[in-house]
Amino acid sequence: MPTPDRNTLSQARVTQIYDRNALFYDAMETPMEWLALRAWRRDLISGLSGQVLELGVGTGRNLALYPADVVLTAVDVAPSMLKRARARARQLGIGATFVQADMRALPFETASFDAVVTSCVFCSVAEPHAGLAEARRVLKPGGHLRMLEHQRPDPPALGWLFDRLNPLAVRLTGANLNRETQRLVEGAGFSTVTARRLDELGIVRIFDACDAREPEVGTEEADAKVDAIDTAGAPPLGTQRDSRR
Ligand SMILES: C[S@@+](CC[C@H](N)C(=O)[O-])C[C@H]1O[C@@H](n2cnc3c(N)ncnc32)[C@H](O)[C@@H]1O
Repeated sequence: MPTPDRNTLSQARVTQIYDRNALFYDAMETPMEWLALRAWRRDLISGLSGQVLELGVGTGRNLALYPADVVLTAVDVAPSMLKRARARARQLGIGATFVQADMRALPFETASFDAVVTSCVFCSVAEPHAGLAEARRVLKPGGHLRMLEHQRPDPPALGWLFDRLNPLAVRLTGANLNRETQRLVEGAGFSTVTARRLDELGIVRIFDACDAREPEVGTEEADAKVDAIDTAGAPPLGTQRDSRR
């Protein structure tokens, strides 16, 4: 029986590790980036539009891939990682709002984003269920959570091996090798969850979770929806300027 969270660190320790490793993060990732990650990142982000929130943006490796009509907000808990993401955005001439925050308690209104994106994040966040609940809260009804994440492989022998390697991986990188991410997403209350395996062993997967819930009557979310319905027949107020390029 796997014990996926046995070696999980406190969030303070995870943050400290990413802060410490920020300088080396891109260099450590580069081989995987060339082998496969870059293409998977493209898949993750393709087709997104509107207000998009990226959680755990890290050094900003996804930034260049967002379509021009995306209005991007990017969050990370580790200041050194976020600093690098900001620098990358400046270098690329991409406009985005960067916020230092813990995804377990996001400083955003309920139902404010059309999509939430993560890549290689839910292996490290200390309480993944709390991060998922926050992602779900800030999504507009019908909005999509897109996640590119690795997880504990299904073949028992490999799962066993990942369990054994996990303590070292966690101590060095802050990332768990054996989180059961699919189970976590499926248990997060979304109406639909799809999972696409990107390798034979099912270690890396793209998840798409959507919540078609109706807002509770009397909440700001419900009022916003009524306003939107009231103005549905009105002429458009003007095209939103692309603030990213
Ligand atoms: C493995 S890195 C991935 C970075 C980036 N998403 C990528 O694809 O390269 C994990 C990131 O998640 C961030 N992180 C971990 N726990 C977090 C939390 N509770 N809230 C926000 N960010 C968190 C870390 O600081 C780190 O930048």
